Amino acid sequence: MITPDDLLRDNIRDLQPYSSARDEYSGEDAIFLDANENPFGSVANRYPDPQQLKLKVKIGQIKNIHYENIFLGNGSDEAIDLLIRAFCEPGRNNIVAMKPTYGMYKVCADINRVEYREVLLDEHYQLNKEALLECVDPDTRLMFLCSPNNPTSNNLYQEDILYLLENFEGILVLDEAYIDFTDQPSFVAQLRNFPKLVVLQTLSKAWGMAGIRLGMAFASREIIRVLSKIKYPYNVNILTQEYALKMLAHEEEKVKAVRDILQERERLLLELDKLDLVEQIMPSQANFLMVRFAKPREVFHYLMNKKIIVRDRSKVPLCEGYLRLTVGSAGENTLLLKALQEFKYC
Ligand SMILES: Cc1ncc(COP(=O)(O)O)c(C=O)c1O
Repeated sequence: MITPDDLLRDNIRDLQPYSSARDEYSGEDAIFLDANENPFGSVANRYPDPQQLKLKVKIGQIKNIHYENIFLGNGSDEAIDLLIRAFCEPGRNNIVAMKPTYGMYKVCADINRVEYREVLLDEHYQLNKEALLECVDPDTRLMFLCSPNNPTSNNLYQEDILYLLENFEGILVLDEAYIDFTDQPSFVAQLRNFPKLVVLQTLSKAWGMAGIRLGMAFASREIIRVLSKIKYPYNVNILTQEYALKMLAHEEEKVKAVRDILQERERLLLELDKLDLVEQIMPSQANFLMVRFAKPREVFHYLMNKKIIVRDRSKVPLCEGYLRLTVGSAGENTLLLKALQEFKYC
């Protein structure tokens, strides 16, 4: 059986990572004369904990996973980039992914000069699993899946993800950025069965902390060790670590926010459905709705003129004609509905 170590780039396997004295001393009350910091106290005169131990322990409690199975980064985007840099030799290895999906997998592949092979979803926005496996060759290192998917807003079938986990020999990265908005279980519980599975989640969506940039990767200790070895030493700053710890202590607030957003999603769905202007709405398991219009570009500009900014996805394959509307607060959604009710094509 192929292990994560077999898939690593040779230079990463051999890499001597940057080390600091704080990797060897993790206490708080000491005289720190090791890192050329300014000794005069402020909230941020010291470097942050490079291992983010307190935060990982807290997240581990919430997610029911050992802290050594957690990587934290500057958004999940950091984990996406590091996975590519760790496992894909530029110009030689390749990545297989579903299409359409979140744009950063391809951007990071392109930045790293790694071939990115895309397989279109089927007409129900589900995986074409045999076609994905047909794209795999001995140089394929990673496969990116996203569930609930952005932009199609649906869950992938769990049995399809399991099938790929059983039949793909590389690292399977499952992006669960929108997991809190669906009733499907997370694949975090499957990590012990699949040593080459990586699950991505983020504090940017349900937790309401997009501004602090904190993304999470859950995986085997072996994979987490690799990501930790190649990250920037102090990749999660002190303000982010402290703020996240404070907010994570109040999970009930996240639960309430999700409940409110789901309620608003239902209301938006019902009200949008009544408009002649709206041709189709995709069933959503996320915090946004994909809505089809006859002239999406016109609607997009009309809304922008009213200072309502939505995302134009109308040129994305399988999403032709669709705008992506994030579920906002009740007041914001009412203004959106009112604007759309008043809209007339030129
Ligand atoms: C599927 C998906 N993954 C990841 C992200 C980015 O998350 P983060 O803010 O943690 O970088 C997004 C943001 O829109 C997303 O839609």
